[in-house]
Amino acid sequence: MIKAVHLTKQLPNGKLLLNDISFEVSKGEFLGILGPSGAGKTLTLKSLIGLLDLTNGEVWIEESNNEHINIFNTKAKVLKKLRTKIALIFQGYHLVQRATALDNVLMGRLGSISTFRSLIFGFNEVEKKAAMSSLEKVNMQHLAQAKVASLSGGEKQRVAIARALFQEPNLLLADEPISSLDPKNAKIIMGILKELSTLFPVIGVFHQPELCAKYCSRIIAIKDGKKVYDGPPVLEESLLEFIYGEELAIVIPEKYAN
Ligand SMILES: Nc1ncnc2c1ncn2[C@@H]1O[C@H](COP(=O)(O)OP(=O)(O)OP(=O)(O)O)[C@@H](O)[C@H]1O
Ligand SMILES: [Mg+2]
Repeated sequence: MIKAVHLTKQLPNGKLLLNDISFEVSKGEFLGILGPSGAGKTLTLKSLIGLLDLTNGEVWIEESNNEHINIFNTKAKVLKKLRTKIALIFQGYHLVQRATALDNVLMGRLGSISTFRSLIFGFNEVEKKAAMSSLEKVNMQHLAQAKVASLSGGEKQRVAIARALFQEPNLLLADEPISSLDPKNAKIIMGILKELSTLFPVIGVFHQPELCAKYCSRIIAIKDGKKVYDGPPVLEESLLEFIYGEELAIVIPEKYAN
């Protein structure tokens, strides 16, 4: 479970980048965050892992022992440990291009083992097997030894998800994970994220309202830093027009093809 309470970010000039955003996401939920460019979606995700210095607000994360921790009011050591169980997938993959798919997956646990052990001993056979099994879950085992640079966009994104899985996360956050993918790969990734949400909460930022309506269990829309919708993934045209304004023709181009 993750709970964001009154997330507020105000600039010294008074401008509100995040305006009192609250929501809670549980295991079994695949939350899609929608909104026009510059609305505050990425800032919201950053807040959830304590990467944004908020003006006001709290983020509570449930640990495996059911304890709830406010990430803005905890020791650095506790926060570091908590973050090892939060998987992040960002657009642009953040993969090491010259390393193999398997090695990139293994890097997912670098945060939770000591630098000493990673430098001196590397990863053990049990970990390598687990990394392979993460690649299998996204159907990439046959490309385990391929250099990431040689993979397609969809394959790279699957490696990024395998790396996230290898972390054995309690929470998965994804910022535009399908933006650079073709429709077929975008659907594959959405299907994988949906399946993962049965294991832990999955929160993703998207610019594809129609795919969100199909795969997400719930949607939040953010506009000018404010939450303007929180509910089932049924997006009526009037709501989409309200959320996106002139950008609607960009996010649903097929509707405006003629
Ligand atoms: N450090 C900062 N100082 C001032 N303004 C900022 C800062 N970081 C972000 N912003 C502004 O806050 C607004 C929200 O940014 P954010 O990155 O969350 O947008 P977004 O909804 O993710 O947009 P996109 O869909 O284009 O990625 C933008 O107008 C951005 O320029
Ligand atoms: Mg963004």
